[in-house]
Amino acid sequence: MKGLILSGGKGTRLRPITHTSAKQLVPVANKPILFYGIEDMAEAGITEVGLIVGETAEEVRAAVGDGSRWGVEITYLPQDEPLGLAHCVAIARDFLGDDDFVMYLGDNLLQQGLTGLVERFDRDRLAAAAPSLEHAPPSPSAHILLCAVPDPQRFGVAELDGDRIVRLVEKPVEPPSDLAMVGVYLFTPAIHEAVAAISPSARGELEIVDAIQWLIDRGHAVHHEQISGWWLDTGKKDSLLEANRRALESIEPRIDGTVDASSEVDGRVVVEAGAVLEGSTVRGPAIIGAGARITGSYIGPFTSVGEDATITGSEVENSVLLERVRLDGVPRLVDSLIGRDTEVARSGRPPKATRLLLGDHCSVDLQ
Ligand code: DAU
Repeated sequence: MKGLILSGGKGTRLRPITHTSAKQLVPVANKPILFYGIEDMAEAGITEVGLIVGETAEEVRAAVGDGSRWGVEITYLPQDEPLGLAHCVAIARDFLGDDDFVMYLGDNLLQQGLTGLVERFDRDRLAAAAPSLEHAPPSPSAHILLCAVPDPQRFGVAELDGDRIVRLVEKPVEPPSDLAMVGVYLFTPAIHEAVAAISPSARGELEIVDAIQWLIDRGHAVHHEQISGWWLDTGKKDSLLEANRRALESIEPRIDGTVDASSEVDGRVVVEAGAVLEGSTVRGPAIIGAGARITGSYIGPFTSVGEDATITGSEVENSVLLERVRLDGVPRLVDSLIGRDTEVARSGRPPKATRLLLGDHCSVDLQ
């Protein structure tokens, strides 16, 4: 079994962060989203991983390297333009050869990991091939994951007849069910014929839902299961903050930095080496990145503070602050995502006013 992770595409929904950086590298609990998918592959015993990269290829390469730190071998597969998820499979054709593979969208996070899934798929394939079974079940050509969501219009959606998938539609205006397709798929090489047979959709992309529908229409067995646990597509600010909350809920508390006598650390908190807390309170779950300095501040639950950030006389909660963010005298910052090297300060300089220097596609909600 090989792995294929998609880390190309455009991060329009996470602008302005993704003007300068790949959306798959935005951190949750101070770790790039993409790394969770690679870790899941490694844990499931998958060692050959193809990584689709687009215009942010250089940054992704610099962050991921050759994969040896996870015990996997990464093969970079450049995609000139984001022409669709099925287009990624076509690009990876030579890399994938005639192997089964797991395809993982690089901006998705799946609590349950991949191990159980991969084992189930292998088992279903073996059961179908067993000569001892007279009426062996058909071998699956694909296995997809579904999750009931309140906003299925944002996803690929499955229509079931009993336990059988009859139709898959991408971002339908009128969804046939509330069952969204999770961005993790298992395929046999049968998918290559399907990908070669389909045409671009109305939005000009080769859709993976169309390729899977092609398999269904030709009588291939396409298995499905509803996931246990949570799943998040981190493509937007609110879902990114939710992913951060979920990831922080399961971090192992650890204090490797310095916490002075007038500071308090409460609950599930990681303070990385080189971080310093002075006269501050951190209420977990939270993570304080290496080299960060928190002075006279309150860091509330569900907050990730990036490396080398400086927070002085401020209060932050339910937020993700990237590397080298500076907060000074900010009374109460919540539900925020702040990009690298950004400064938010209350200078007290007259006249009393709000002064902003914002890039394109920013959003500010004043008190
Ligand atoms: O998150 C689950 C959803 O992901 C599914 O329910 C949908 O059926 C599926 O189409 C997909 O929808 P999105 O709109 O979220 O896909 P997005 O364009 O964000 O791309 C998903 C990932 O794949 C992202 O990491 C970028 C990468 N990608 C995307 C395209 C279109 C590529 O590497 N190349 C591409 O051509």
